[in-house]
Amino acid sequence: AYDQDGAEAREIAKVIPYFPFKGIPRFYDIAGFLSKPEVFQKIVDVFVERYRGIGIDAVAGMDARGFVLGPPIALALKKPFIMIRKKGKMPNCIESDSYECEYGKRSGMCLQRDAVKKGDRILIIDDLVATGGTLSAGIQCVKMLEGIVVECACVVELKMFIDPPEGSGLPNRTKMFEE
Ligand code: PRP
Ligand code: MG
Repeated sequence: AYDQDGAEAREIAKVIPYFPFKGIPRFYDIAGFLSKPEVFQKIVDVFVERYRGIGIDAVAGMDARGFVLGPPIALALKKPFIMIRKKGKMPNCIESDSYECEYGKRSGMCLQRDAVKKGDRILIIDDLVATGGTLSAGIQCVKMLEGIVVECACVVELKMFIDPPEGSGLPNRTKMFEE
């Protein structure tokens, strides 16, 4: 609900230009809110208020920064926390297709087979959505185990990937989520 570069957004994420490489004009660093407990708490409260009472069975977080934001939300909702990890970190996993993200092509994301049961209602948490590639991989993992993704939620949204102009070379997030 915050304006991307407004005063409140600057409290939430420190903006670091041209990191991790020149093609990324603005890197949004969630250390911004992690260093301010009152802002961190407010963010967790916003998510908890939204997801309390709508029948979530578990909260899943995307490796790595979704592991910072997801657990306090899961604890507040009194639900299990599930890790959706980068490849090669956990045994007995299913793996999504490889995916494109803001930084280029990535191997699939992985989820342990017993983490989600058929029909489980899962909330997926990450710090930031850019192209949507990472979240799409998370959604695919949950679906592979026949879970239901109730919603995906992040703190920062990069609007440049919503329906970018034809020929810009930017991935189109709207199209990706439709698929
Ligand atoms: C970053 C960020 C999101 C993802 C968003 O993760 O934390 O997960 O990119 O980009 P996308 O919408 O284009 O997929 P990254 O894997 O780079 O770093 P992390 O391991 O620190 O989370
Ligand atoms: Mg990440």
